[in-house]
Amino acid sequence: MTDLSILRGKHIVLGITGGIAAYKSAMLTRLFVKAGAEVQVIMTPNAREFITPVTLSTLSGRPVITEFFSANTGEWHSHVDLGLWADAMIIAPATASTIAKMANGVADNMLVTSYLSTRGKVFVAPAMDLDMMVHPTTKRNIALLQSYGAEIIEATEGELASHLVGKGRMAEPAVIADAIASYFAHGCDLAGKKVLITAGPTYEKIDPVRFIGNYSTGKMGFAIANAAAARGADVVLVAGPVGNLSLDSRVRRIDVESACEMLASAESEFASADYTILSAAVADYRPAEVAEHKIKREKDKIPTLELIKNPDIAATLGTRKHDGQRLIGFALETDNETANAADKIHRKNLDMIVLNSLRDPGAGFGTDTNKITLMYADGRTADTYPLKSKADVADDIIDKMLTL
Ligand code: CTP
Repeated sequence: MTDLSILRGKHIVLGITGGIAAYKSAMLTRLFVKAGAEVQVIMTPNAREFITPVTLSTLSGRPVITEFFSANTGEWHSHVDLGLWADAMIIAPATASTIAKMANGVADNMLVTSYLSTRGKVFVAPAMDLDMMVHPTTKRNIALLQSYGAEIIEATEGELASHLVGKGRMAEPAVIADAIASYFAHGCDLAGKKVLITAGPTYEKIDPVRFIGNYSTGKMGFAIANAAAARGADVVLVAGPVGNLSLDSRVRRIDVESACEMLASAESEFASADYTILSAAVADYRPAEVAEHKIKREKDKIPTLELIKNPDIAATLGTRKHDGQRLIGFALETDNETANAADKIHRKNLDMIVLNSLRDPGAGFGTDTNKITLMYADGRTADTYPLKSKADVADDIIDKMLTL
């Protein structure tokens, strides 16, 4: 979590739309104000059905704006001035309807007009029912907003207002405030840089129905890809077979299955990459031959699988690395952690390695948290971090990567 005090003195426009999660926006306002930010709330007419402007004007210390003109005085509320005033705008909750209007410039209320006038960073925290969330229309509109530079603060899974259970709950106020604080802490410090990432396991085919694989889920690599995209990088993610993980739509994703395919894709992207982060758990060996047909069970006979070596992607790229390129590897170890990781830095010509110990609870495959030690080729002292969310670990890795 980023220290929220970075929000002190920042001008934040908080747009609230008509969703049940609007009550959480009161807590969000409180977090911003407590951190020392100045908050201007804009509500859509529907939002006022869910939470009263009095609550929000009291918490923010400023009158809430809904209409283009003040009903009492006829005073014009200038969306242009608001757009210039805002260091950041956050729409939370953002309904499907407001997301659609924002993506298409339908400026029929004060919130969308202000969005179109905002020069600062825009954040969107969607909240809606699960079927609306996965509808191609919503997905397209969210991707459009991302392509225009907005950062989407993903909805989470849980029970929704409809009592259906699925993805659509607005992110918690603390998560939203953290994303905004993180933006002010890092800015777009990877703008203009290309970051290549490998993630997930590889599957090495035995026959049409079987493979050799491992327990890697790709969560760490995807978190790094999302963090790098949020920090302005041009990100290419070469992903092995992983489940459904959320990915920033600005990331270019190449899906592969085997180590050989992963190497081919990584090699073709590597020459133009400024930073390459190899988080994939690549199988070291593959079957010498792939059976064309399913291998059948035979009575009294146990088949033997002959294995051959897979290419080492990290080591291959390490030999091609030119001045100015930085190569970062991972080491997941169970014993002699530091010595093994130091050996990998040397063998693979890495600049930095992210060491995970499977002896640390909460670290490694499948978890949403990780505990890392960063070790460097230039001989500086290693950095050891406490257990954190993979999103926060991703930012720590990028922070140190930028010092290489
Ligand atoms: N790696 C790779 N290609 C491989 C094997 C590993 O690119 N064929 C990369 C991983 O993505 C990771 C680093 O090398 O960044 C270390 O991976 P690891 O499996 O720990 O290293 P190995 O060299 O396979 O060593 P060992 O299995 O003996 O620990």
